Amino acid sequence: MPSKPRIYLMYMLSVYSVSVAGQFNVSQPKPMPEGLPAINWDILQMDPATRENLCQRQTAYCANNCGGPTEAPKNFCNVTSMAWNCGCSKKVPDFSPYLWPIVQAECSGRSQACQRECNEQQQHQTGNPNCAVLCNDYYTCDSPNAPPSYLQTDSSSDTPSYNGPKKVVTTTPQNNSTKNANQQQTQQGEGTGQVAITWWLIFGMISMIIFS
Ligand SMILES: *[C@@H]1O[C@H](CO)[C@@H](O)[C@H](O)[C@H]1NC(C)=O
Ligand SMILES: *[C@@H]1O[C@H](CO)[C@@H](O)[C@H](O)[C@H]1NC(C)=O
Ligand SMILES: *[C@@H]1O[C@H](CO)[C@@H](O)[C@H](O)[C@H]1NC(C)=O
Ligand SMILES: *[C@@H]1O[C@H](CO)[C@@H](O)[C@H](O)[C@H]1NC(C)=O
Repeated sequence: MPSKPRIYLMYMLSVYSVSVAGQFNVSQPKPMPEGLPAINWDILQMDPATRENLCQRQTAYCANNCGGPTEAPKNFCNVTSMAWNCGCSKKVPDFSPYLWPIVQAECSGRSQACQRECNEQQQHQTGNPNCAVLCNDYYTCDSPNAPPSYLQTDSSSDTPSYNGPKKVVTTTPQNNSTKNANQQQTQQGEGTGQVAITWWLIFGMISMIIFS
């Protein structure tokens, strides 16, 4: 049986390794807080002129990120479905997933729908008094913690998943198209978990060697 000091040391080391891992930024969407009003909004509720304008900004953003229109062989935004993707010829598009115009517009539309729902609840004297604060805290639209968007598809005729869950996208890497915005976030999160486990293992092994 391990001695008491050894157990204590192992405990301290695991606390330390978790705190080291905590210094890395975890870019994962926040879980929905309790009391956040359910919303009934998706991007197709934007009027056609707004969608048209948004798609123009979206494809211009893609072309710009690729280094010009001729460097963006995969660049679509379907005004009917709002499916989009961006693939450069010479690089992987490197704008942050939450900064794409269409992702921001979707988040902002949801955020406004959330506030409307709060106003509605307030008029009927129902619901959470912190409603508006909860909306603000959850829909942090221009940050890595923005809620995920599922509008990215492989092809312009694919129907995106408007309110999740994420569709299984069978992507063969083509012309360096963007990874799914949500996928990127998940991978970063997993990376942090792996770092934590790695530290935990390293410290655990060192302490076993020293103290056995
Ligand atoms: C984490 O992200 C914030 C901005 O969101 C940044 O200011 C900070 O430097 C980042 N920290 C690390 C360790 O990357
Ligand atoms: C990918 O690039 C090739 C040429 O490099 C082109 O023929 C093909 O159509 C492109 N695919 C997509 C989806 O843009
Ligand atoms: C845009 O989406 C609609 C609805 O999914 C589809 O019928 C149409 O073919 C798509 N347009 C293009 C150019 O892919
Ligand atoms: C994808 O980008 C890499 C550089 O990151 C480049 O070497 C490669 O040729 C690109 N692939 C395509 C199909 O353009």
